[in-house]
Amino acid sequence: MRQASYSFIYEGTQDIIYPIYEDRNICPKVIERLGYDINLIVDKKFNQVTTIHTLGKYSYEKIIFIGLGRSTEITTAQMREAFITVSKQIKQPASFDAKRAVVETIDIHKVTQLFIESYIYASYKEHVIGHDVNEMVEVNVMANENVQADIEIGEAYGHGINYERTLADTPANLMTPKDIVKAAIQLAKEYDLELTILDNQKLTEMGAGGILAVNQGSDLPAYMLALKYNHGNNQSYSAVVGKGITFDSGGYNIKGNSFGMKYDMCGAASVLAIMKILADMKANVNVYGIIATTENLINGSAYKPQDVITTLSKKTVEIFSTDAEGRMVLCDALTYAQQLGAHQIIDLATLTGACEVALADVYTGVFSNDDDYFNKFNQVLKDSDEKGWKLPLDNAYLDKIKSNSADFKNSIGRVGGASIAASFLQQFIEEDTKWIHLDIAGTADHGGKAATGVMIRSIVNMLKD
Ligand code: BES
Ligand code: MN
Ligand code: ZN
Repeated sequence: MRQASYSFIYEGTQDIIYPIYEDRNICPKVIERLGYDINLIVDKKFNQVTTIHTLGKYSYEKIIFIGLGRSTEITTAQMREAFITVSKQIKQPASFDAKRAVVETIDIHKVTQLFIESYIYASYKEHVIGHDVNEMVEVNVMANENVQADIEIGEAYGHGINYERTLADTPANLMTPKDIVKAAIQLAKEYDLELTILDNQKLTEMGAGGILAVNQGSDLPAYMLALKYNHGNNQSYSAVVGKGITFDSGGYNIKGNSFGMKYDMCGAASVLAIMKILADMKANVNVYGIIATTENLINGSAYKPQDVITTLSKKTVEIFSTDAEGRMVLCDALTYAQQLGAHQIIDLATLTGACEVALADVYTGVFSNDDDYFNKFNQVLKDSDEKGWKLPLDNAYLDKIKSNSADFKNSIGRVGGASIAASFLQQFIEEDTKWIHLDIAGTADHGGKAATGVMIRSIVNMLKD
């Protein structure tokens, strides 16, 4: 995608995407040229699309108007929504008239970024195996300032988020732990990132008993991955950590219905996407991307309820439920991140059904052990137009998972599940580590269908400055 022009004089052949506010008039020159007052026809209400055919009056076929409502009320979140709506109407190359959407609080640069990201997001379709993916229709931006850099920012976010959706939507037989590793290798090559791959042998030597316990029931090997992005000179390293269960059957505590459990690797896919976007934007930061990946299945060697597991941290865990596998792989990944030297960690995981019950696919559950770190992230969430809600960590939740045979159990039941899981994870976070845990069980996909790429934008924005 590119900038089509620096001026309003446009005589190209591409359709025009024309954002219009209720309290503004359509450019008089357009009306003069068309020969009738389309102000009376175009629906300027928020999120309404009106297509006007130029019938030979212009060198292009049509003007597609997208209503933005009142200019005094518009928000960036609404702009995203409207831009996604109009993007779905774009079937042939078009030029987006960015300046028409500019208001006092949202400048041409932001408008351009929002449009390009929304357009790419809207163009994504779940890939049907064996069928070609439709090529994306070319869209250009008309602006009276140089917005090429903004186009590239929008592209970085849009393509990065779609990359996560592609990985996540791929069925579990074609997105195994090995396939996650392949994706990481490809990413490392493309962006010249350092990649450490820990296989079962290495994990055994290290004593990463958490991920290995979950892996016992799978015929495929497990992996812990560390991608290293270092463009921050001597700054300290942050880490983003993702749960990569490529399929969660529940194990011996088998799920009655495991529909949608191919999405149990969305945390890992998001980590890959975040690294890709940071590298695309050449962000001046140092970040580790850590992934723990295995299937959670059943065979004759699978881990069982009441097994006692020694994790990488040396803390021991009594398995209450083999279906609480996410925290078993994550605890080792969190320990590993801290061993690498990260003292600011964000993890994201499709961790608990309880979080989905509480917040549906609307809000992501947010947990943190540090108020300043949380407050910063909460502001970033707002600036990124994503929704997260803080839920409690508390030692009282730990009392519930006391164990006679180990330091604690991995779970206890359904009540308070999201906070119990998070409080469990906190046991693997050192005092001087700032930590945010995002439970994306409800928000990573829509009820077992269609990955969303949730939280990628916010985490990138949190890390990049
Ligand atoms: N992957 C699931 C959580 C999940 C549930 C994600 C629904 C998306 C939609 C996780 O591994 C799990 O099974 N959690 C259990 C924990 C319980 C055994 C304490 C759950 O939430 O039921
Ligand atoms: Mn599970
Ligand atoms: Zn799971």
